[in-house]
Amino acid sequence: MKKTWWKEAVVYQIYPRSFCDSNGDGIGDLPGIESKLDYLKELGIDVIWLSPVYRSPNDDNGYDISDYEDIMEEFGTMADFDRLLKKAHEKGIKIVMDLVVNHSSDEHAWFMESRKDKENAKRDYYIWRKGRPLSTVSKEEQERFAGDIVEYQGEKLLPPNNWGSFFSGPAWVFDEKTGEFYLHLFSKKQPDLNWENEIVRKEVFDMMTRWCEKGIDGFRMDVISLISKPEGLPSTEIPKGAVYGDGAVCANGPRVHEFLQEMNQKVLSKYDLMTVGETAGVTLEEAKKYANEAQTELNMVFQFEHVSMDENPKYGFKWNTGRMPLVPLKKNLEKWQLGLKDVAWNSIYLCNHDQPRVIARLGDDGGQYRERSAKCIATFLHMMQGTPYIYQGEELSMGNYPFTDPSQFRDLESINAYEELTEKLHISPEELFPMIAHKSRDNARTPMQWNSEKEAGFTTGTPWISVNPNYTTVNAEEQLKRPDSVFHYYQKLIALRHSSELIVYGDFHLLLPEDPDLFVYERTLGEKKLLVVCNVSENERDFAIPEEFNAGKLLIHNVEGEDAKRGHLLPYEAFVLEI
Ligand code: NOJ
Repeated sequence: MKKTWWKEAVVYQIYPRSFCDSNGDGIGDLPGIESKLDYLKELGIDVIWLSPVYRSPNDDNGYDISDYEDIMEEFGTMADFDRLLKKAHEKGIKIVMDLVVNHSSDEHAWFMESRKDKENAKRDYYIWRKGRPLSTVSKEEQERFAGDIVEYQGEKLLPPNNWGSFFSGPAWVFDEKTGEFYLHLFSKKQPDLNWENEIVRKEVFDMMTRWCEKGIDGFRMDVISLISKPEGLPSTEIPKGAVYGDGAVCANGPRVHEFLQEMNQKVLSKYDLMTVGETAGVTLEEAKKYANEAQTELNMVFQFEHVSMDENPKYGFKWNTGRMPLVPLKKNLEKWQLGLKDVAWNSIYLCNHDQPRVIARLGDDGGQYRERSAKCIATFLHMMQGTPYIYQGEELSMGNYPFTDPSQFRDLESINAYEELTEKLHISPEELFPMIAHKSRDNARTPMQWNSEKEAGFTTGTPWISVNPNYTTVNAEEQLKRPDSVFHYYQKLIALRHSSELIVYGDFHLLLPEDPDLFVYERTLGEKKLLVVCNVSENERDFAIPEEFNAGKLLIHNVEGEDAKRGHLLPYEAFVLEI
């Protein structure tokens, strides 16, 4: 396996809206990030992944971009960006930009042209189709989608196929002006770009080149696995727990690898970048193509199987209140560790801006083991193979927000799902609310907790989304002062990775696969070996380490003053031995 800097790096994701507000408008911004570079330096990370900072009407908090080459007003100016990049580089920190090109905003100049008339030069930048006359669809479909029927020039029409948007409702919007529908796999304000059009690809590649010329260090590519749509855009089966057909049918489409190889040849291969594809719906076989060692497409994938282990068995959707079950989680992580060995590279993560806080899914959020469980989870994650991603606040054990009412949701996915599932699938609000509260993306988006002052030191104004009330105890200032804090534990995990080829490149071997509490594995590289032991539960457990590790060196341990080798584990105890 080839050694590269991005395999050895640790990434820190910043969600700019919620990171640090420098001007009191309640919204995080670029100067705010700049003011926290020393904090990140102290943590020890190598790369910042910056969620979108481009101009956007913010239907989906910046993932709906109206100008790829300008900065969102609330976040600052291009001069602020240039200064941030320069300052980060001076401190040895790289910046990877979010690249959102499966779709743009409907307020992007391209789309505004595209929707003007069918002959417009930019019409084909997006995916426009005629509707289906009611006479051509089954009675069942007519009834099921009655609310989506539109009337145009005396004819009743249903959308071109049955696909649903990932944010509820149909994946199509009817545009009266030209009498056609446009496709949006995400919100109505996120029309999908037409990658079949080579002019669109050229526009995207040229824009990427201009960012590279500015000196950025890479791209995290939003839902890049969805850019090539299946031929004919066929209707699909409607999955359990859904109203519409599954737009995920677009994952790993027929031309996606061709498009990425073209991107690689025309842009990526010319610079020293880190590239990560957010690849929803990726399988092992597909990942081997996206992130192949020969580097003809991207450096690594960011996949979702392991964070989908707590899906709701009753309804078959993500909304649930249950814990993430450890056995399937371990087996899934093992599958990816072994499956990509020597052939492709993976990202390892449990938190990001789309996931609830991991401590609420697998640890003891709000309980007596909050800190120990956060360290335990971090241990099993950071000792695996792949490039680790830390999401802002994870290094402090930030938890889920205690939602009490749907009016507190800010995220369109949560708001729309609540409406659609109560109204169309008739799930009672009493049953649904706790599930959405537990899994909502808003849990990740509450402001970063810097100190115990007003609004956790995030803003001097009113934050755009409420601060988690636990900020008086969970905050950076307190943890920086305390040597046994979660922050300092993360600092140590990062330093260990930086000092060990075994941690970066070693082979993975899972022990006790069926144990519901213990996550135990070995890593090996040449003669060297690592034993990672994590009790991911509230149970006390006996565990005798394999004999060969009796003389092992203790690299890290989340319980002070106990002998790691004593044959017993406290709740959420974790340690790593090396021989
Ligand atoms: C994936 C992003 O991570 C998510 O936040 C966003 O809503 C969708 N893609 C659409 O861009």
